[in-house]
Amino acid sequence: DAAPVPASGIPVDPDQEPAHLDECRRCPLYANATQGVPGEGKKRSRIMLVGEQPGDQEDLQGKPFVGPAGSLLERALEQAGLDRNDVYVTNAVKHFKWEPRGKRRLHKTPAQKEVAACHYWLEAELAKIRPAVVVALGSTALKSVLEDRRATLKAFMEAPVRHGAYQVVATYHPAFILRVPDQETREEAMAALVHALRTALELSL
Ligand code: URA
Repeated sequence: DAAPVPASGIPVDPDQEPAHLDECRRCPLYANATQGVPGEGKKRSRIMLVGEQPGDQEDLQGKPFVGPAGSLLERALEQAGLDRNDVYVTNAVKHFKWEPRGKRRLHKTPAQKEVAACHYWLEAELAKIRPAVVVALGSTALKSVLEDRRATLKAFMEAPVRHGAYQVVATYHPAFILRVPDQETREEAMAALVHALRTALELSL
């Protein structure tokens, strides 16, 4: 098989690629992160959840979705009839991008270049897990999963789409839901996330 060419346009040479995320220098984000955060879950998970990038807690613990967004995601999974152990959880970007704000490290949205560079690792996970359904949590994940930087959440939340070997379900990012100030709107967004996870479950059966 020919080596896959990732969205970054940098061809993948297996002899030259880092064997591990912590050796990755495909973009500069490694420099300010504690460690790379790989995906987590069973090898043949039918459903893969893709977030944006690790947050503060994820960066420190080396695991995806272990902070506040992870708690909300776990509640949503439960409401959808799924267990976290049933799904593979990962991110479009594997290193935490942040800027200092006092003593805190404030999340910064990754640049498209960084998302494209990191697509290499997402592709490797997709090839390993071979999910039937990929749930894109938020716009960064959606653009990476579809390899289309113009894809919008609004357009793709309408219905699942097939992309290559898997169905793509798009929904809100859990951290976005946490930030919605109005309670009613926040509950609607949570319901949309639960609905998307239920759709993923149905499509995976
Ligand atoms: N937000 C994400 O997108 N991913 C995580 O792992 C945690 C928070």
